[in-house]
Amino acid sequence: MLTQRPRGTTDLLPGEVERWQAAEETIRSVFRRYHYGEIRTPVFEHTELFARGVGESTDIVSKEMYTFLDRGERSLTLRPEGTAGVVRAYVENKLYGNPGLTKLYYIEAMFRYEKPQKGRERQFHQYGCEVLGADHPAVDAEVITLNVHLLRTLGLQDLHVELNSVGCGVCRPAHKARMIAALTPHRHELCRDCQQRLDRNPLRIFDCKNEHCQAVLRTSGAPTILEALCDDCRAHFSSVREMLESIGTAYEVNDRLVRGLDYYTRTAWEITVPSYGTVAGGGRYNGLVAMIGGPETPGIGFAGGMERALMLLAEQGRDLRAPTGLDVFVTVADEAGEPMAMRLLQDLRAAGVTADRDYLGRSLKAQFKAADREAAKFVAIIGETEVQQGSVSLKDLQSGEQVALPVSDIVSYLAEKVGVQS
Ligand code: HAM
Repeated sequence: MLTQRPRGTTDLLPGEVERWQAAEETIRSVFRRYHYGEIRTPVFEHTELFARGVGESTDIVSKEMYTFLDRGERSLTLRPEGTAGVVRAYVENKLYGNPGLTKLYYIEAMFRYEKPQKGRERQFHQYGCEVLGADHPAVDAEVITLNVHLLRTLGLQDLHVELNSVGCGVCRPAHKARMIAALTPHRHELCRDCQQRLDRNPLRIFDCKNEHCQAVLRTSGAPTILEALCDDCRAHFSSVREMLESIGTAYEVNDRLVRGLDYYTRTAWEITVPSYGTVAGGGRYNGLVAMIGGPETPGIGFAGGMERALMLLAEQGRDLRAPTGLDVFVTVADEAGEPMAMRLLQDLRAAGVTADRDYLGRSLKAQFKAADREAAKFVAIIGETEVQQGSVSLKDLQSGEQVALPVSDIVSYLAEKVGVQS
């Protein structure tokens, strides 16, 4: 136990971490281009926030939350998703008082008690965003486009947008009644979960992974929500589609897409890679801010899994920017060179050059091997002659060229070579 991490968690070790950093940098830069600001909310929130916000009838709330009592007997939950916490922060900090839209993004750890499998962890990371304050279909089209843009900029290929509208408080009650009427005669053909869904939230049945339930849905004549949209939702959906077409963002309508969270209204989408499945998803949630106690405010957003995106990038043979590696490895022949080596290392680092050395008192040959292993660009050699002459020999490991420079010049020379300003 002591040497094993909990199931569904990962240690990100140096090497892999650089891939994450490169992906995170790309994601941040794309969000910044669309004028989003970063938000960081607590890892845990009051359980009630997710129970009410995400919805009691969802798998996330009913089966997957990490919920615990703290020492003050309060029920807290590790966030299973980012939207509820961001909306809570928006209300608590009265961000609705700011003029214009509030556009926020995050890259944070989330927790769901799921069966771990490829691209599915118990502690995973989402990049995501939330836009609060506008119901205009242009926002929907732009946020969906941003979702695709982000994944494309990371390098992912073969992306498909599946789009649906899940209606609103006006059209859903009638749709629910029609679903109950169509499915009740087939109640016992449904899985146990779907029997409960039929009582609590029949729309969720579209989300069931059980093939048999999907077959019952198809043959029972239960209407899809798209068939039951009210006039306003229908008009909103067709504007979103037109705008996506004018931007040039390709999509397919999937009238069975309902997403796994209850807060959605109107637009809902998922981005899939056919060889794998869903990589990101989002939607509009016009009732959520008011539901948790804020003023009526429309919202929309999406999130995608970092683990999934990075795994698919590797599978598609798309490596992220290579790890930075070492600019200089400083080798020291003997004790006499120590003061010069230590000073040089610190001066290099202060100038922005990535530098390291050997601390094990090994032979020069072994130190050169270490420099190779670390893929250093240069080796700085401090030998007997160098100490006597106050110079450093510098070998470019790529070209094999070697120069001797006075110690006083070496930092600015290297800073220029590796492209940092000294
Ligand atoms: P979600 O569909 O539950 O939506 O999750 C979004 C993405 O997070 C998924 O498409 C997947 O890439 C990733 N993900 C989910 N669970 C796991 C897991 N166990 N392991 C690895 N990756 C996972 C939401 O969470 C909504 N909050 C999205 C949203 C934001 N809607 C509006 N605003």
